[in-house]
Amino acid sequence: MKSIKVGLLGIGTVGGGTFKVLQRNQEEIMRRAGRGIEIAMVADRDMERARSITNGACEVVNDANLVVSHPDIDIVIELIGGYTIAKELVLKAIANGKHVVTANKALLATHGNEIFAAAHAKGVMVAFEAAVAGGIPIIKALREGLTANRIQWIAGIINGTSNFILSEMRSKGLAFGDVLKEAQRLGYAEADPTFDIEGIDAAHKLTLLASIAFGVPIQFDKAYTEGISQLTAEDIRYAEQLGYRIKLLGIAKRTEAGIELRVHPTLIPAQRLIANVEGVMNAVLVKGDAVGATLYYGAGAGAEPTASAVVADLVDVTRLHTADPGHRVPHLAFQPGSLADTPILPIDAVISSYYLRMRVADQPGVLADITRILADGNISIDAMIQKEPAEGEAQTDIIILTHQAQEKNINAAMAAIGKLSTVLSKVTRIRMEQLN
Ligand code: NDP
Ligand code: HSE
Repeated sequence: MKSIKVGLLGIGTVGGGTFKVLQRNQEEIMRRAGRGIEIAMVADRDMERARSITNGACEVVNDANLVVSHPDIDIVIELIGGYTIAKELVLKAIANGKHVVTANKALLATHGNEIFAAAHAKGVMVAFEAAVAGGIPIIKALREGLTANRIQWIAGIINGTSNFILSEMRSKGLAFGDVLKEAQRLGYAEADPTFDIEGIDAAHKLTLLASIAFGVPIQFDKAYTEGISQLTAEDIRYAEQLGYRIKLLGIAKRTEAGIELRVHPTLIPAQRLIANVEGVMNAVLVKGDAVGATLYYGAGAGAEPTASAVVADLVDVTRLHTADPGHRVPHLAFQPGSLADTPILPIDAVISSYYLRMRVADQPGVLADITRILADGNISIDAMIQKEPAEGEAQTDIIILTHQAQEKNINAAMAAIGKLSTVLSKVTRIRMEQLN
């Protein structure tokens, strides 16, 4: 059978990895797909670099529009990134009847509903395994492998850069900025690294996972997002002393009131497998009502791990290319007409446990005032430590772990505690999950 013809937009970190993996494993991939998969055109702004990678194997152009409108191209791989040009190109490719494979979670989290609707109307596929957790086939697992289940919750380390930073800070005592530079050098970080460290990239991915898990439209604007840039070395150390690790976690949870959709630094018991996921590795825990808890682990970023997911999508699209669109797996796992309008809960309504740290004057009644405020807010204390004041100092740190409470009550208690004259710092709050 004739090879399927692919046009690649962007041959940077992931595009370069994709080109290499496809070339290296060409024969094996062909035996799996049932026909050859040939990158026939590459578009990149840097044509010289593109030519040095493709080495005469295909046509190289600098105008991506030539690829999405070329009559011979069956599948377009979008690996440019960003929302503007990438969106135009993807919509144009769809309008021209081409299938699309993309790793662009930012694009899908913000414009996915429109893109999937356009693809559905045109009867083409938009595959995006590489957009979430790099090389881990989590989309496939959720959309197909776990399709029997009513998914209860998902908790994932889904940003490699921030996990790399947290791991290096904790284990080697390295400074935040130095580790971030290293992550950029290794090609893990987004074009705008604030997406990584402020939790935005993780929220993009979580939004996609939540839609597939719960059958709701993509609603990135309703995700609560808090990154790791405000985390201090002392909180990482105190967490360790209490038997916890701090990870940037994406949590999507079904509750009676609606869906919790939140990304924030989280204390996790140190003995949990997911607490021991280090470096650029990602892991996603999915709890289904039938299967129970399942864990998916692997490299969350980098050229070839991400290429692994891109090529898997290419093979899938190649196999299903001639299938009747009605018999393909729906983009978001649920049939487009069957998406639910379950509300996404505001962060105030979330139920969690909390780590609270405050600097206080070492004098009688301080602790009593703080615990009174917590009790008045219906917040129960699970554990507490008060450090001995350093030699010659009349102040110290108090760390309180709470049982589950509603976030709005915690906020009110934090505000009241902050007003006590004996509390000398702002109250640091980190959410805590047992994940059992
Ligand atoms: P890179 O910046 O390494 O690659 C993007 C490439 O596209 C560059 O070569 C760039 O050229 C080129 N490009 C930019 N604009 C245009 C344009 N208008 N026309 C043609 N070429 C263009 O990014 P990555 O490979 O890291 O990321 C690509 C996508 O994959 C992003 O959506 C990212 O979020 C996603 N992703 C990345 C992962 C990773 O580990 N890096 C993992 C998972 C997903 P120039 O260099 O000149 O700008
Ligand atoms: N910047 C992303 C990360 C790339 O660090 O996880 C993978 O999506």
